[in-house]
Amino acid sequence: MTYETLLVEQRGAVTLITLNRPQALNALNSQLLADLITAFAAFDADDSQRCAVLTGSEKAFAAGADIKEMASQSFADMYGSNFFAGYDRVTATRKPWIAAVNGFALGGGCELAMMADFIVAGDNAKFGQPEIKLAVTPGMGGSQRLTRAIGKAKAMEMCLTGRMMDAAEAERSGLAAKVVPAADLVDEAMKTAEAIAAMAPLAALATKEMVNAAFETTLQQGVVFERRLFHGLFGSADQKEGMAAFVEKRPGNWTGK
Ligand code: HXC
Repeated sequence: MTYETLLVEQRGAVTLITLNRPQALNALNSQLLADLITAFAAFDADDSQRCAVLTGSEKAFAAGADIKEMASQSFADMYGSNFFAGYDRVTATRKPWIAAVNGFALGGGCELAMMADFIVAGDNAKFGQPEIKLAVTPGMGGSQRLTRAIGKAKAMEMCLTGRMMDAAEAERSGLAAKVVPAADLVDEAMKTAEAIAAMAPLAALATKEMVNAAFETTLQQGVVFERRLFHGLFGSADQKEGMAAFVEKRPGNWTGK
């Protein structure tokens, strides 16, 4: 499958998806969203694939939603088409995926990165929600996900001033899981993805689902949800294999059942 705005490559059990609109610093237009929806659905449906990495270029992960595409839209156009709602299909991806961010991750670019299960940042990464400078606001989840990631004070300051946050601050603030040299970004993210891809697949799905539940439930409900998923894994062959492999001091050999 080839895409107009993406490069997609399977490396073993990891799918590497690269945003590829260099002439617009990977600005997110409708075609790119359509391509992302298709690529993530294909990744999720392919049993040979266990984890994905989404990246951009060294200069820009993505410099935002495509301003040129949005500029002339009316309220009726935006509301009527439920503009950006397609990103809910990206966040519905059940398997784990990592955003590997070099350069600018601004506006919708920052919001897309925050849709990932976690962010690995190159040391040249710059995150920001500059929409207010265009007389709009975040529209792809930024006001919600940034606030959950870094807390109200910093999120409010970032969204109200539109300032950029560098990689070190992003790591310190909990926006990025780790920072690596920009030149090593994709290799490092791929290594992390390969480690995840080597885990028992059902346990990886369940882990993602329960951590995400922490944002949707009370503590008590979340703890019960976790416990039920944990109980459920005792119905899997891989749980038997994983615990037997530990006792026998050998690596587990997963079937995904
Ligand atoms: C469309 C964009 C773009 C964008 C950059 N380009 N960002 N096109 N939408 N978001 C295009 C430029 O127009 C230019 O094309 C080319 O990419 C290179 O960009 P330059 O500005 O020449 O590069 P540079 O001087 O290095 O500056 C980089 C930059 C700047 C600081 C990242 O491009 C910038 O500020 N971009 C916009 C950032 C932003 O406001 N993002 C939020 C978007 S709103 P041409 O052909 O002109 O040379 C958003 C909303 C989400 O995401 C939801 C609510 C609406």
